[in-house]
Amino acid sequence: MLSPAPFLALALTAVLPFVLSNGVPIHVSPGLNVSTNPNITARLPPCTNLTYANSPTIPCYTQLQVTSYLKNFNSTIAEVCSPIQLWSQCLLLSVYSVPGVNCTMTSNTTSTCTPFDCATLNSTACPQPAPNNFTNITTDQAQGWYGVWNVYSAHHFLTAWATALNTTSSEKAILGVINPRVANTATTVLTSLVSKYGFNPNADAAMVKLAQVKAVKPEPQFGNRHSKGQSSNPTGAQWRGILYAKMQSISDLAAGNFTDFIEMVGDGDFSVRGLAGVDALIDSLKNGTKVGG
Ligand SMILES: *[C@@H]1O[C@H](CO)[C@@H](O)[C@H](O)[C@H]1NC(C)=O
Ligand SMILES: *[C@@H]1O[C@H](CO)[C@@H](O)[C@H](O)[C@H]1NC(C)=O
Ligand SMILES: *[C@@H]1O[C@H](CO)[C@@H](O)[C@H](O)[C@H]1NC(C)=O
Ligand SMILES: *[C@@H]1O[C@H](CO)[C@@H](O)[C@H](O)[C@H]1NC(C)=O
Ligand SMILES: *[C@@H]1O[C@H](CO)[C@@H](O)[C@H](O)[C@H]1NC(C)=O
Ligand SMILES: *[C@@H]1O[C@H](CO)[C@@H](O)[C@H](O)[C@H]1NC(C)=O
Ligand SMILES: *[C@@H]1O[C@H](CO)[C@@H](O)[C@H](O)[C@H]1NC(C)=O
Ligand SMILES: *[C@@H]1O[C@H](CO)[C@@H](O)[C@H](O)[C@H]1NC(C)=O
Ligand SMILES: *[C@@H]1O[C@H](CO)[C@@H](O)[C@H](O)[C@H]1NC(C)=O
Ligand SMILES: *[C@@H]1O[C@H](CO)[C@@H](O)[C@H](O)[C@H]1NC(C)=O
Ligand SMILES: *[C@@H]1O[C@H](CO)[C@@H](O)[C@H](O)[C@H]1NC(C)=O
Ligand SMILES: *[C@@H]1O[C@H](CO)[C@@H](O)[C@H](O)[C@H]1NC(C)=O
Repeated sequence: MLSPAPFLALALTAVLPFVLSNGVPIHVSPGLNVSTNPNITARLPPCTNLTYANSPTIPCYTQLQVTSYLKNFNSTIAEVCSPIQLWSQCLLLSVYSVPGVNCTMTSNTTSTCTPFDCATLNSTACPQPAPNNFTNITTDQAQGWYGVWNVYSAHHFLTAWATALNTTSSEKAILGVINPRVANTATTVLTSLVSKYGFNPNADAAMVKLAQVKAVKPEPQFGNRHSKGQSSNPTGAQWRGILYAKMQSISDLAAGNFTDFIEMVGDGDFSVRGLAGVDALIDSLKNGTKVGG
C-alpha cells in the first residue's frame, strides 16, 4: 500500500495539462498565479465570457479571484443565510436569485425555498451551472457563476467516486488494497484506491486530504488479522458500503463547512469540465489500470 505522504507530494508537484478552448495547450503548475503570466493571459478569452467552451477554466478561477469572492460571501453568512441552511445552499440561492415566493434568505425555514442540495451524494438538486447567454457579464456575476460551479463540481466529483466505489465490479480492486498486516480504515482504503486508480491528481489529492484530516478518530479498523480483538473482515459488498458512507461524510464537510470547501477547491482544480466521469472511474477500478495508463 502506498502511504498517503508520497501520494500527496506527487500530486502537488504534478504538472497539469490544460488546453484552451481554441485548442492551444498550456501547462499550468498548480499554485502558479497564472493571471500574472502574459503568455497565458494573452490567449485567454475574457473570464466574463462564459460560453460553454470558455468556461470554466483554472486560470479564470485565479483571475477572477474566486477564493476571495467566496471568503467574502462566507463572512456574510451569519447575516444573509438562515441558521439551518447549509452555506452551499445559501450560496446557490443567492447566486441564482431564486429564493422562491415565500422563501427569503434569512427565513428560518427552507421549506418554501428551491431545494438545492449539493451535500447528499447522488442528489438531483445540485444543478450544473449553464453558461447559456453569458457572453459579456460583470465580474461579480462571473465570480458568482464560478462559485456555484465549484459547489457543483465538488459534489459531482465526490458522487462519481462514491458511485464507482459502490459498484460490484470494484470489489476486486477494493479487496486488493486491504493489507492484512495493518489496521485498515475507510480512510486508509480510500487513500490507497485513489492513489492507485485515480486520474485527476490534484482533485484526488484535495479529496483525500479532506478525508484524512477530518477522519473520525478512532476510525473503525478492519481486516488486521494479527490485531487483538480484531476479527472483522468485511466482504467486498460491505466495503462498498463503508466507502460510500465515507464519501458521504466528505461531501457533508465540503457542502457544510465552508473552510473545508475552500481547502478543497481553493487552488482552482475544480474549475474544469469533465473532472471525473463515473464510467471512467468504474473502468479504472475494474480494469486495474488508470485511464490512459
Ligand atoms: C495574482 O496576481 C494578481 C496580479 O499581481 C494579484 O492581483 C492577485 O491577487 C494574485 N492572486 C493570487 C491568488 O495570488
Ligand atoms: C513567455 O514566452 C516566451 C517565449 O516562449 C518566454 O521566453 C518567456 O519566458 C515566457 N514568459 C513567461 C512569464 O512565462
Ligand atoms: C406564500 O404565502 C402566502 C401567505 O402565507 C400563501 O397564501 C401562499 O400560498 C404562499 N405561496 C407559496 C407558493 O407557498
Ligand atoms: C425567525 O428568525 C427571525 C430573525 O432571525 C426571528 O426574529 C424569529 O423569532 C424567528 N422565528 C422563529 C419561529 O424561530
Ligand atoms: C447514483 O447515480 C448513479 C449514476 O447515475 C447510478 O448508477 C446509481 O444507481 C445511483 N445510486 C443511487 C443510490 O441512486
Ligand atoms: C440572450 O441575450 C440577448 C441579448 O441580451 C437576449 O435578447 C436574449 O433573450 C437572451 N437569450 C436567453 C436565452 O436568455
Ligand atoms: C465569447 O466567446 C466566444 C467564443 O467562445 C466568441 O464567439 C464570442 O464572440 C465572445 N463574446 C464576446 C462578447 O466577447
Ligand atoms: C460588454 O459590456 C460592457 C458593459 O455593458 C460594454 O461596455 C462592452 O462594450 C461589452 N463588450 C462586448 C464585447 O460586447
Ligand atoms: C450501492 O450499490 C448497491 C448495489 O448496486 C445498491 O443497492 C445500493 O443502493 C448502493 N448504495 C448507495 C448508497 O447508493
Ligand atoms: C470547519 O472546518 C474547520 C477546519 O477544518 C474547523 O476548524 C471548524 O471547526 C469546522 N467548523 C465546524 C462548524 O465544524
Ligand atoms: C468562514 O466563516 C467562519 C465564521 O465567520 C470563520 O470562522 C471561518 O474562518 C471562515 N472561513 C474562511 C475560509 O474564511
Ligand atoms: C477498460 O477495459 C475496457 C475493455 O477492455 C476498455 O474498453 C476501456 O478503455 C478500459 N478502460 C480503462 C480506464 O482502462
